[in-house]
Amino acid sequence: MNVYTHSLLHKYNIPGPRYTSYPAVPHWKFSNFTQEEYFDRMQETLSSDKRVSVYIHLPFCEFLCTFCGCHKRITKNHAVELPYLETLRMEWKQYQQLFDNELRIAELHLGGGTPTFFDPTLLATFLSDLLRDRTDSCELSFEGHPNNTSDEHLRMLYNLGFRRMSLGIQSYSPSVQKAINRKQPFSTVQKVHNAARRFGYTSISHDLVYGLPFQTLDDIHDTIDKTLTLKPERIALYSYAHGPWVMGTGQRGYDEADLPSANLKRRMYEEAKERLLHVGYIETGMDHFALPTDKLALAFKAKKLHRNFMGYTTQDTAGLIGLGMSAISDMGSAYHQNEKNLEAYQEKIISNEFPTYNGHLLTSQELATRKLIMDIMCHFEGTIPDELMELYPKFEERSIGLLGDGLMELVGKKIRVTETGLPFVRNIAMVFDPYLMEIFDDIPRFSKTI
Ligand SMILES: C[S@@+](CC[C@H](N)C(=O)[O-])C[C@H]1O[C@@H](n2cnc3c(N)ncnc32)[C@H](O)[C@@H]1O
Ligand code: SF4
Repeated sequence: MNVYTHSLLHKYNIPGPRYTSYPAVPHWKFSNFTQEEYFDRMQETLSSDKRVSVYIHLPFCEFLCTFCGCHKRITKNHAVELPYLETLRMEWKQYQQLFDNELRIAELHLGGGTPTFFDPTLLATFLSDLLRDRTDSCELSFEGHPNNTSDEHLRMLYNLGFRRMSLGIQSYSPSVQKAINRKQPFSTVQKVHNAARRFGYTSISHDLVYGLPFQTLDDIHDTIDKTLTLKPERIALYSYAHGPWVMGTGQRGYDEADLPSANLKRRMYEEAKERLLHVGYIETGMDHFALPTDKLALAFKAKKLHRNFMGYTTQDTAGLIGLGMSAISDMGSAYHQNEKNLEAYQEKIISNEFPTYNGHLLTSQELATRKLIMDIMCHFEGTIPDELMELYPKFEERSIGLLGDGLMELVGKKIRVTETGLPFVRNIAMVFDPYLMEIFDDIPRFSKTI
């Protein structure tokens, strides 16, 4: 990495949203949100096509990985499984009642927490019932923890139609694993990965993280070496987001001083990326790589990639329904989040209420901005819509540095992220985010962009 890139990293490593939604969650206006209006917008979004994507949040994990930013509940008590699955079943029925049982699941993703915390037989009963409402071409995927994904899980999910699995790897370095409280040797991952292949899973993704405590460049290379021996179809290479969730945990085995510097962190990404590209992966958006034959890569090339709370997807439905504690639904013109506390979520469902925690109803200007920001994040280019043209002088002013550094182009209404600008795609999207023009005080609510 040259001196020039070093200084850019320093300059642009500021807190900013990851844009899995627009507006980003800290900018949602709860005061304007009503359940009634949300359901009206949901009806409108799904008026002509009742196919939906469904995300199910399965929040339990047996052990706490101290770096983890997901909504989870740590427990070794497996008696929680059955009541939780029952509330999920009831929640889906609530939605079906709103739509006279006409909703059809076109995509299903099981996330967490740890879906494979659940007993395969209990999960199978729940899923078989739910999947009566699926479309014929429904695509099913799940997140597996390598330490507890058993052959029974793999067989049961395969028989139900699951063909995609993502495995949480993070890093193979023993010192990193110790610091984040996640013991997971390569042999364990290899065993689950190969078993999934034998069962017939066609798309396996590995989640890696760079910038973790005590992580070195050698560690990243070693993790990439091991990953490449298994050649997963997709690789997510996430930037470690250091947020408040790790601050108060007594179990945390590291301090801020143990984290790699911004420059080293970016070098980890750049060197890992170079190696992945060299062996044939393509970069399909921020932090994501896929083999050219994978659906995500094909969608990226065809500019059909989308971004939602699950990251980059090939979603072709108008709406995403999130079920379970803390799950977020996205109806295009409105977002809805479930209660983040497990007990509050379950109590509402049992009382036959929707488990609403909050949400956001988008204005027409926000809808236009959303399209622009998602185009930048997914296709590395975009066109400023008419609704935002009154802000053009501000956009010009805010992009002076990025233009001067050769990270983006702005010609008339057209925006393009340059090759050098790819690591700074979040910074470029931020230029066009009106919230970040008015509410600078809010910026520290996000983790840093690099
Ligand atoms: C719900 S977890 C994965 C499933 C399963 N619980 C496991 O750990 O294997 C989803 C992924 O989010 C990523 N992740 C979690 N916390 C993160 C953080 N603070 N910064 C960056 N990535 C994070 C990790 O790569 C993790 O595998
Ligand atoms: S990384 Fe996975 S297993 Fe670890 S705490 Fe987070 S959700 Fe649970």
